[in-house]
Amino acid sequence: MSYRVAIMGATGAVGQEMTRTLEQRAFPVSQIKMLASERSEGKTVVFRGRRVPVEVLTKDSFKGVDIVLSSAGAAISIEFAPAAAAAGAVMIDNTSAFRMEKDVPLVVPEVNPDRAADCFKATKNPLIIANPNCSTIQMVVALAPIHRAAGIRRLVISTYQATSGAGAPAVEEMMQQIRDLSMGKNWSDLACKNFAHPIAYNALPHIDSFLDNEYTKEEMKMVNETRKILEDDSIGVTATTVRIPVVRGHSESVNVQTHKPLTVEQIRKMIAEAPGCVLVDNVKNADYPLAIYADGRDETFVGRIRKDDSAENAFNMWIVSDNLRKGAALNAVQIAELLIERGLVKPKK
Ligand SMILES: NC(=O)c1ccc[n+]([C@@H]2O[C@H](COP(=O)([O-])OP(=O)(O)OC[C@H]3O[C@@H](n4cnc5c(N)ncnc54)[C@H](OP(=O)(O)O)[C@@H]3O)[C@@H](O)[C@H]2O)c1
Repeated sequence: MSYRVAIMGATGAVGQEMTRTLEQRAFPVSQIKMLASERSEGKTVVFRGRRVPVEVLTKDSFKGVDIVLSSAGAAISIEFAPAAAAAGAVMIDNTSAFRMEKDVPLVVPEVNPDRAADCFKATKNPLIIANPNCSTIQMVVALAPIHRAAGIRRLVISTYQATSGAGAPAVEEMMQQIRDLSMGKNWSDLACKNFAHPIAYNALPHIDSFLDNEYTKEEMKMVNETRKILEDDSIGVTATTVRIPVVRGHSESVNVQTHKPLTVEQIRKMIAEAPGCVLVDNVKNADYPLAIYADGRDETFVGRIRKDDSAENAFNMWIVSDNLRKGAALNAVQIAELLIERGLVKPKK
């Protein structure tokens, strides 16, 4: 059996990675629709060696479509999700639009695959499965086995997030700033459209907009989405999210406090056995996860696991993954594969 798939936001950073991921995983596609804005009219996207014309997204775009992979921004998802549902298509949404809606499952296949089926019972937002925020996905892949074994009490998170997390135009802006500085321009002369300050050679403690509590939306996504995915509102979570001039791959320093004690060796064993995780933790050889080696890879890499002697049952870890793969496109495609494996979507006649 093969499926009609639509990619909403096909020309973007995540959309392009979705196309690659469908190809690489030999996803059973009978027909593909590449949807974007009027700006992309006339463009094509290559899928399996064939040039597919980009279509302008309209409410009629979903006729006959079985699965929509959406990454065109939250406002676009909100506007078009009802049309996709009316056409009987399941939408796997990469934006923040529906993640915290009660009836929308927020799914990481290695962690809570059973929740995916809930989208068929939803009444307010039917047929939508939300893909969590990129920084949350890689963290919960590593934390899920620890939570199951010892119960997580508290998380203190600092992230070092790649510029591609802000989309393809943000990467272009960073590259242009680097070129401009090398040509002798001053910081004050740099064009900054995607960020409040230059991202080149900088670290910005500002991802998404600030809220009344002075945290950013990105920080609160990590708080709320972690609790929803791990199904435990009692977990204390605090985060500082930082944008850095790395092209691809988010890195995270996570301080974990558990209810039950665990040894470092037990944690290392859990990570080594966790689906989707790779343990890279041998400091004698300077072996620890690095963004440049995670680029283009599917796995979440975990290392620098060490005891935190300043608190009871606490330890530190360093978690790295490609934000465009596991943080977005791969997780979405894995959800689609899960729906197929479980017989939850059938191709339309
Ligand atoms: N980048 C990441 O690591 C990441 C990870 C997880 C989730 N996400 C989420 O995924 C979404 C897309 O992110 P991105 O990084 O791929 O952004 P991006 O590179 O800026 O791409 C945005 C895409 O949306 C399309 N689009 C924008 N306005 C549209 C409209 N009015 N109608 C139809 N299509 C429209 C764009 O089409 P045009 O080319 O025609 O403008 C483009 O294909 C965001 O909600 C983001 O938060 C991103």
